[in-house]
Amino acid sequence: MALLDILVYPDPRLRDIAQKVDAVTAIEQELVSSMAETMYAAPGIGLAAIQVGVDKRIIVIDISEYRDDLLVLINPEITEQDGVQVSEEGCLSVPDIYAEVARAEKITVRHLDQSGEPAVLSAGGLLAVCIQHEIDHLDGKVFVDYLSRMKQSRIRKKLLKAGQQKSAA
Ligand code: NI
Repeated sequence: MALLDILVYPDPRLRDIAQKVDAVTAIEQELVSSMAETMYAAPGIGLAAIQVGVDKRIIVIDISEYRDDLLVLINPEITEQDGVQVSEEGCLSVPDIYAEVARAEKITVRHLDQSGEPAVLSAGGLLAVCIQHEIDHLDGKVFVDYLSRMKQSRIRKKLLKAGQQKSAA
């Protein structure tokens, strides 16, 4: 396991579209462990492989209070969705920025679990938001894409400036 570097918006690699995982091998399992470690250390409630520069359709999520309920979704695909909920979102790739985004209220997701077995999950509330947010990453989308152009440009400038200060320090 290793801590991985998280790409920061507007890094162009966040626009990459992740490829389907053909088989869950030791390589994918090692990646899942490192992604989980990175998410917990950040700390965050979700992380997609694209955010650590790996173009595989793998996400890790843990919304539990005690951070002991890791959910691994490989090749996740939303097969059903219902309703609308609006909630404030943040993202490890968009530090210190929070904004309201509308998502489906309930979803059903087909995926492979950590051992590569096909599984189906139904989720609502925060878990549904988190899964939709992470699947967006696999498709090269970031939550700020849902905001107005003016807000997007403000966020881009702020994070570029913060990045420059960090590399100068
Ligand atoms: Ni995110």
